[in-house]
Amino acid sequence: MAWSEWIRTVEIEPSLYAADFARLGDQIDVLLRAGARVFHFDVGDGHFVEPITFGPIVLESIAPRVHPLGGVFDCHLMVDNPTRHFHQIAQAGGDSVTFHYEAVDDVPATIAVAREHGLQVGVAFNPETEPEDVVKVAGDADLVLCMSIKPGYSGQKFMDGALDRIARTRELLPDTIQLQVDGGIDIDNVRSVYDAGATLIVAGSAIFHREDLPRSYRRLVQALA
Ligand code: DX5
Ligand code: ZN
Repeated sequence: MAWSEWIRTVEIEPSLYAADFARLGDQIDVLLRAGARVFHFDVGDGHFVEPITFGPIVLESIAPRVHPLGGVFDCHLMVDNPTRHFHQIAQAGGDSVTFHYEAVDDVPATIAVAREHGLQVGVAFNPETEPEDVVKVAGDADLVLCMSIKPGYSGQKFMDGALDRIARTRELLPDTIQLQVDGGIDIDNVRSVYDAGATLIVAGSAIFHREDLPRSYRRLVQALA
């Protein structure tokens, strides 16, 4: 299966980083029932980004409740040497890996390694990186991820200037590559992010730091209708 088959025009992707880990499986079930299909899984290594988040062993536990219902895992690797982890992530049930432009020397070669593992693949870039530099080397990717925060933590504010960068990236990218945005997305800015050209929209705290998860997820989806 490929990204083109996962995406229903646009996807709101719950970012599991913001979940309550004591109730992770239950929260995933609730969101699957509410209609979520693509789950964003943030791996942070304590080097490329400050925090250590979670990794393949967690994925392995939750994959059996997501895949049978048609859900997939979009793994955002905020790590140095991302290729080292591709095999384990694929084995654990990851469907797609997105590595950072800033973390590798050779983007096309890294994309090729992900494909060898049967993974879909994305290239993420930080706010200080020029979209032009990324687009030049990401031609073989399925998606490009424009960060709207400095990567590391959930719950940060959507950065000034992010909308312009999103629109600029969309303009530069071929139509075949999906544009993803991650960081600080909420009910007040989700529509502008979509209008600027994003088709994969990640939301962590705007879904999980709310009382009613299904309602928070559906409100974001409805804002794009
Ligand atoms: C942090 C992660 C994000 C994070 C988003 O760098 O990449 O996916 O969970 O969380 P919010 O939506 O709260 O900014
Ligand atoms: Zn992320």
